Amino acid sequence: MTAASAMVPPGSTIGILGGGQLGRMLALAAAALGYRTHVFVPERDSPAGQVATATTVAAYDDLDALSRFAATVDVVTFEFENVPAATAGHLAALRPVHPGPGVLAIAQDRLLEKRFLNGIGVPTAPFRPVATLPELEAALAELGRPAVLKTVRMGYDGKGQTVIRPGDDPARALLALGGADGVLEGFVDFRMEASVIVARTASGDLAHFVPVENRHVHHILDTTIAPAAIPAATADAAVETARHIARELDLVGLLAVEMFVTADDRILVNELAPRPHNSGHWTMDACRTSQFEQHVRAVCGLPLGSPERHSDAIMKNLIGDEVHGWPAILAEPDAKLHLYGKAEARPGRKMGHVNRVFPRASFA
Ligand SMILES: Nc1ncnc2c1ncn2[C@@H]1O[C@H](COP(=O)(O)OP(=O)(O)O)[C@@H](O)[C@H]1O
Ligand SMILES: [Mg+2]
Repeated sequence: MTAASAMVPPGSTIGILGGGQLGRMLALAAAALGYRTHVFVPERDSPAGQVATATTVAAYDDLDALSRFAATVDVVTFEFENVPAATAGHLAALRPVHPGPGVLAIAQDRLLEKRFLNGIGVPTAPFRPVATLPELEAALAELGRPAVLKTVRMGYDGKGQTVIRPGDDPARALLALGGADGVLEGFVDFRMEASVIVARTASGDLAHFVPVENRHVHHILDTTIAPAAIPAATADAAVETARHIARELDLVGLLAVEMFVTADDRILVNELAPRPHNSGHWTMDACRTSQFEQHVRAVCGLPLGSPERHSDAIMKNLIGDEVHGWPAILAEPDAKLHLYGKAEARPGRKMGHVNRVFPRASFA
């Protein structure tokens, strides 16, 4: 066996890049399987740092700190895919990094991502790279309006994107990019947003969770409904798409595939996230194996767990002030509350989530 595919047994230390709620829940799942965790994060008192065995607070480009971090861990993974390529490369020379730097490079660049997807036969919204106003005007003429202008890199929760509608001034949308490279996407008149989360091991085993529906408010995920109410053939196509992408990426770890379901039940892929994903939080209380445990299993080379759903679920994010509703949620018998340990409930900030679960009759 090569070093990259060696099993990392319980008792080992998992290095996690990024310190948000995804890292927190990953560290908790790792602890449940007997692992230690070491979080590398630029900020103090991070949600993940609060529950990890050890924390390094340093910048992602601090190569000395990265080397010291690598020396203390057996495998490296991340909860945040926008770490610089040089960071992932530096770590990959020292320790196994899952998913690998090549997967990161694709997932952190919307242009590379869409070209990769189209190249393996997976449809996306039509798109054009745009850096200048003439390029944007030409792309608008081809793709029509409305269209969505996005930064190629570093976007999340709708940040770095502008919808250009009939009558809007394209120059203003371009200004909003602040000089960053852009990609113009044709607007998809979807009937539903959905996602599929799939895990893959180094030996090629795959396991997926059922497709779910995602509802956004102000571009931030608000609610996930599991399972998505789509025809079986559409669900099968969504699952097959996610498994195909995971194989083609040679993924080791977890991949969330965000999709648009069109009015005629076609699947277009919107985004890839090679890590646990907000739309998989429902699995914590409704599946035999949560997405976080599955990620730990995949990156450590353990057998994957059953992704089977014993309950249907509705996951509601608690955003900003919504977190103050926690006492009433605790009083609900079917609700499971998860809070992230963030001190300040700023608007738009993900503070926690609640899973409302409904056991399936076949499991009763
Ligand atoms: N081409 C598009 N057509 C229609 N809606 C879109 C399009 N691109 C993005 N959106 C909407 O904006 C949301 C956020 O966009 P996304 O590309 O997923 O960026 P982020 O990285 O911020 O999650 C999507 O979930 C969807 O609701
Ligand atoms: Mg998205």
